[in-house]
Amino acid sequence: MENIEWGKLGFNYYKTAYNVRFHFADGKWGDMEVTDDEYMRMHISAACLHYGLELFEGLKAFRGEDGKVRLFRPDENAKRLRSSAERLCLPMPSIEMFVDACKELVRRNADFIPPYGTGASLYLRPMLIGSKACLGVKAVDEADFIIFCSPVGPYFKEGMKPIKAVIDREQDRSAPRGTGDVKVGGNYASSIFSGERAHRNGYSNVLFLDSAKHEFIEEFGAANFFGIRQGCYITPKSTSILPSITNKSLRQIALDLGLEVQERPVALEELDTFEEVGACGTAAVISPVGQLYDLDTQKVYDYGSEVGEYSRKMYDALQDIQYGRAKDKYNWTVEVEM
Ligand code: PLP
Ligand code: COI
Repeated sequence: MENIEWGKLGFNYYKTAYNVRFHFADGKWGDMEVTDDEYMRMHISAACLHYGLELFEGLKAFRGEDGKVRLFRPDENAKRLRSSAERLCLPMPSIEMFVDACKELVRRNADFIPPYGTGASLYLRPMLIGSKACLGVKAVDEADFIIFCSPVGPYFKEGMKPIKAVIDREQDRSAPRGTGDVKVGGNYASSIFSGERAHRNGYSNVLFLDSAKHEFIEEFGAANFFGIRQGCYITPKSTSILPSITNKSLRQIALDLGLEVQERPVALEELDTFEEVGACGTAAVISPVGQLYDLDTQKVYDYGSEVGEYSRKMYDALQDIQYGRAKDKYNWTVEVEM
């Protein structure tokens, strides 16, 4: 096997040895297939290609200080995948099927789990697609559930250094009664245009506002939002943002650090009052936000070029659990017997 420069990995697809697949037809899931094929054969009229009947998940496996390999809260990803599937009227894999398949995938790709100390991890990408050929817009009863993986480094090239993000009102990511609260490809399709404009102008990500009034903070294109103010961890509550598993974990960690936790609508004006702002998610972990630029008002919110005290403490506490350096008192990790 080629030598991988683990410490230099970004968040890109890297070919591994195997992926795992299940096909759903005739009302039931078939057995797991393990393959080294990176491609799949698909009907040109498959529902996922035309009507966005596609959803996915993202979770990581970490090689710990003690050599053990741990998945972080895979049961939570399984539950969220099921809620996404329910929304798109696709068949739902069971939690057990999801978690067992993740474990098998990690075992089969042992050579691609980054060594401890490199800062990298193995990212798992479960995906569920409506693969039945159809022409009319309707639910389909044939689907494929696939999980592949890729060793990854930081999502933002800045790593744990503060990023610059932009507030862009031209395009909304999701509607109040749309699909923002489930992890479907369409949400990302509607964030691409503003995301590209942000990148061209030197910003790492877009902060989206509520699409009804543009008065409240929703989330970043690939991560949830949190702010710290006077001993309080504040994060938006909305029906159109993704319920992040990292954010859920950070709310517990924040409480353990003695912070108060508020999950509620967060008005745009509050951006002026935060001492720290961050983006959180599986890929992003915690990416501190150093600067937010409002494209329309041209207002700049500056949170400094240093990582804030609580962002650092929460990041360390989370990674200590993920890499097996701290006691996992909430049983968040699932060890993979290698
Ligand atoms: N919000 C969006 C839009 C995302 O794509 C992600 C990534 O999964 C998150 C939030 C963070 O969710 P999680 O912490 O479960 O990875
Ligand atoms: C994740 O954090 O797992 C994501 O899905 C973010 C992004 C790559 C879409």
